[in-house]
Amino acid sequence: MKCVSVCAVLSLLCHTDGVHIRDPNRNSSDVSVDLSAVIRRVDRRFLSVTIDASLASEEKFMYLLSSPKIRTLARALTPAFLRFGGTRQDFMVFTPQRRHTHSGVSAGNADVLLKHASCDLPSWLEEKLKKDWTQQQLILMREDLHRKYRRVKFTEFTVDLLHSFTNCSGMDLIFGLNALLRTADNTWNSSNARSLLQYCESRRYKMAWELGNEPNSYEKKAGIRVDGAQLGHDFTRLREMMTESKFYHDAGLYGPDVGQPRDHRADILEGFLQTGAEAVDACTWHHYYVNGRDTSLDDFLDPDILNTLAVKIDEVLKEVTLVSPGKRVWLGETSSAYGGGAVGLSDTFAAGFMWLDKLGLSARLGLDVVMRQVFIGSGSYHLVDDNLNPLPDFWLSVLYKRLVGLEVLSAEVFSSLNRSRRVRMYLHCANRNRYRTGALTLISMNLSEKPARISVPALVSSSTVEAFVLESDQPGEDGLYSRSVKLNGQLLKMVDDKTLPDFEGSRLPPAEHVALPAYSLAFFVFADARAAACV
Ligand SMILES: *[C@@H]1O[C@H](CO)[C@@H](O)[C@H](O)[C@H]1NC(C)=O
Ligand SMILES: *[C@@H]1O[C@H](CO)[C@@H](O)[C@H](O)[C@H]1NC(C)=O
Ligand SMILES: *[C@@H]1O[C@H](CO)[C@@H](O)[C@H](O)[C@H]1NC(C)=O
Ligand SMILES: *[C@@H]1O[C@H](CO)[C@@H](O)[C@H](O)[C@H]1NC(C)=O
Ligand SMILES: *[C@@H]1O[C@H](CO)[C@@H](O)[C@H](O)[C@H]1NC(C)=O
Repeated sequence: MKCVSVCAVLSLLCHTDGVHIRDPNRNSSDVSVDLSAVIRRVDRRFLSVTIDASLASEEKFMYLLSSPKIRTLARALTPAFLRFGGTRQDFMVFTPQRRHTHSGVSAGNADVLLKHASCDLPSWLEEKLKKDWTQQQLILMREDLHRKYRRVKFTEFTVDLLHSFTNCSGMDLIFGLNALLRTADNTWNSSNARSLLQYCESRRYKMAWELGNEPNSYEKKAGIRVDGAQLGHDFTRLREMMTESKFYHDAGLYGPDVGQPRDHRADILEGFLQTGAEAVDACTWHHYYVNGRDTSLDDFLDPDILNTLAVKIDEVLKEVTLVSPGKRVWLGETSSAYGGGAVGLSDTFAAGFMWLDKLGLSARLGLDVVMRQVFIGSGSYHLVDDNLNPLPDFWLSVLYKRLVGLEVLSAEVFSSLNRSRRVRMYLHCANRNRYRTGALTLISMNLSEKPARISVPALVSSSTVEAFVLESDQPGEDGLYSRSVKLNGQLLKMVDDKTLPDFEGSRLPPAEHVALPAYSLAFFVFADARAAACV
């Protein structure tokens, strides 16, 4: 058996500057790192999540967000944004049921519901909703297939539940407004949004806003064409409305949530930036690697497919830098496969390679926030399944939150043997809330079925190494389809509805090679690395 050796030459020997160390004696992949400087710093909510607006397609499903279990899981992912949006946001109309007075006092039946919103969801109701949701998903899928979306009315209840969910879990809510409400001259009709903002202001709901979802496909979804420049004007209108509000005058506004560039065309992004860049605090776009309906396990493990993200990021960053230099760029909605995910893949251990690689690449290439579609709800790319149990990508996300810091260091894998393309690495300072200054976290993944090892040179290996290795609970290729994951050999599961397990690293004895099992995802924390960049 051929053994590929990956030398993570963490050159603590040279604290000073960019050293590129390669090992000429081996046909191996070497990692060249620079521990002296931070190349990027991401937002503290870098790893964020979404809830698809389809959860509100029938308002009762919003109740699921009161489940104590869901709130426990959400809390573990903070700090994070929660973006509420997606295709159906552009078909949603705010239809208040209560009358509002200046003090926000209200009357009506909806209040009974609201009372529930702030309490724990009774378990009988949770069971019923979970069952109904399975049925609802079929209806939603049919709508998506035919691209025929009905108008959905939502009341205060949806906003109350979203706010209560994010407020209790500590996430920062971003609400996506409907941009397809348009006047005869095709400008945005802001009257419904105004009414929603007024309601939220009356309740003093701290939240940020978006306007429209994937406007590049409005023609397909709704037979309406909106060009970038017009959309920019619409955002400017929304920003004016926010500025007039006492409560939202300095709230966040993000957009335009365009789909990823196709055939090297940035679509309506340029036009939008020319008229609307000033209005937004960050420029958002969406990314999926593959079509959920015709993909395979091979795609999920294919380094070439993982690399396509870098090309798209490059295109978007170039576009934004050209028109609006310095503007922050976010992945406003992203996952493995579009069309609701790939059944049998997007919710399994296999999805972790795309997810972790996306986090690694995005941070390194200069994106500030990455919002995972979805936390709970639609499709098969969720982090929490329809029974409200955490899936492998949830556990991966929690570990990422706990171990990985905001500062990105340069680490590049040079390979002489092509197989080493299947070992991918990213280097960050360790999370400062948990580790002392100077500590490093090496993110690595092994996409291969063949062994190799990371050799840790003398000085780093005298640092304590804590390993967090995630593997499927089942061996071999079959294990990739599993919905359960082991951390250092221990199956991960909730202790009870309000408690997550301890995430124990395993301490590696000094001067050892760090082994990365086949098909594994790992974080290695070098707690005493004293990296200059992480001080
Ligand atoms: C590395 O590969 C080259 C060409 O494939 C070969 O000539 C050389 O002997 C190899 N070196 C080692 C140390 O295996
Ligand atoms: C929740 O809302 C209350 C009242 O609006 C506010 O004081 C508190 O800071 C919020 N908590 C979070 C985590 O947003
Ligand atoms: C905007 O929408 C509101 C509510 O539907 C409607 O009453 C109003 O006439 C519309 N305004 C324009 C200019 O179309
Ligand atoms: C590595 O890839 C290159 C081109 O991508 C190819 O020419 C070469 O034969 C490959 N080497 C091995 C050892 O597979
Ligand atoms: C990747 O997994 C294979 C299969 O077990 C293993 O042989 C190889 O050493 C691993 N790579 C690394 C860098 O540990």
